[in-house]
Amino acid sequence: MPISHLFFLFFVSHLTISSSLDCNAADRRALLNVKSELGNPPELSAWLPATNCCTWSNVYCTDTGRIYNIYLFSLNVSTTIPNSLGDLSELLTIQLQTILGIYGTIPPSFSKLTKLELLDLTNTSVSGPIPDFLSRTNLSGLDLSNNKFSGPIPLSLTKLPNLRYLDLSGNSLSGTIPPGLLHGTFRFLYLSHNKLIGEIPKDYGNGDIDTIDLSHNRLTGDASFLFGITKPMTKIDLSWNQLEFDLTRAVFPHHLDYLDLSYNKIKGKVPKSLQDIPLRFLNVSYNELCGEIPNRRFMVYHNADSYIHNKCLCGAPLRPCTT
Ligand SMILES: *[C@@H]1O[C@H](CO)[C@@H](O)[C@H](O)[C@H]1NC(C)=O
Ligand SMILES: *[C@@H]1O[C@H](CO)[C@@H](O)[C@H](O)[C@H]1NC(C)=O
Ligand SMILES: *[C@@H]1O[C@H](CO)[C@@H](O)[C@H](O)[C@H]1NC(C)=O
Ligand SMILES: *[C@@H]1O[C@H](CO)[C@@H](O)[C@H](O)[C@H]1NC(C)=O
Repeated sequence: MPISHLFFLFFVSHLTISSSLDCNAADRRALLNVKSELGNPPELSAWLPATNCCTWSNVYCTDTGRIYNIYLFSLNVSTTIPNSLGDLSELLTIQLQTILGIYGTIPPSFSKLTKLELLDLTNTSVSGPIPDFLSRTNLSGLDLSNNKFSGPIPLSLTKLPNLRYLDLSGNSLSGTIPPGLLHGTFRFLYLSHNKLIGEIPKDYGNGDIDTIDLSHNRLTGDASFLFGITKPMTKIDLSWNQLEFDLTRAVFPHHLDYLDLSYNKIKGKVPKSLQDIPLRFLNVSYNELCGEIPNRRFMVYHNADSYIHNKCLCGAPLRPCTT
């Protein structure tokens, strides 16, 4: 899930955008090196020596002429991530999206970007382990989704005190989920489509988490501590894991909008408390649930596809319970 434009604006809202000032000479040199490392793609033909780099495409300047944002989408290139990006010392955000021709690892020069708040490398061919040196930045948003990263989620990421948006989905990450990855308000955690094992750390049941998507992994154990009526979550997706717990007495967050628990080993009944939650999407199929499906209030919006392949669920929208 790429960070939306809205979320991006939210990240850099403390800045004023300016193109009237001439840009910093060192930043211009660094950008020209970036262009050359990318093989001078036609999309960057406006990046010319001896011109004001604050007016160039794909970058934004602060009101002191420093480059703080660079965004490159869908370039037709075949190269590694430019090492010269690390020379843009005032960078707050880097977005490289949907560039399958970008491969290799995250360059070590990124450790120099101590002000970096958002790194978005969505849908590229970048691989290798997630480097420890990212902990020297000031990231509040890290989106490495749909790449080829492997190895564990590094413990060093827990040292980023402002990290509250983390998307590592669609990689080949292994090992367990470290506790304490997210901090601050309005947190988002997307770790789906990896090879993660072990239990979900208990601290993800606390704090201001809006979204948690751990689907398509190999997680085990109890996840019921994530639920609770006063929690702020709007989306919980734990589908396609090996989670095993009793759902009967679960109480769900009031603002929950999306709940997918399909393809696990969840036991017990469909909880009555679900009747009071105006879920837009519910899926508890392919588990080991049993008993009568509650049918009042908001339950009428869910059809049989939400409940199929359980042990012995019955009642509308499935076949009637035999008494
Ligand atoms: C991408 O670039 C290569 C060589 O630079 C060119 O042959 C190819 O047609 C380009 N593809 C697209 C979709 O523009
Ligand atoms: C990823 O990139 C490829 C090619 O650049 C594109 O066809 C595809 O739609 C992208 N996928 C996502 C999820 O953005
Ligand atoms: C780090 O980022 C936060 C926003 O998440 C910002 O308020 C703070 O000033 C930044 N710190 C430095 C040293 O740039
Ligand atoms: C729930 O998930 C199962 C398995 O992926 C799928 O067959 C079913 O259509 C899904 N139900 C809904 C309501 O999407």
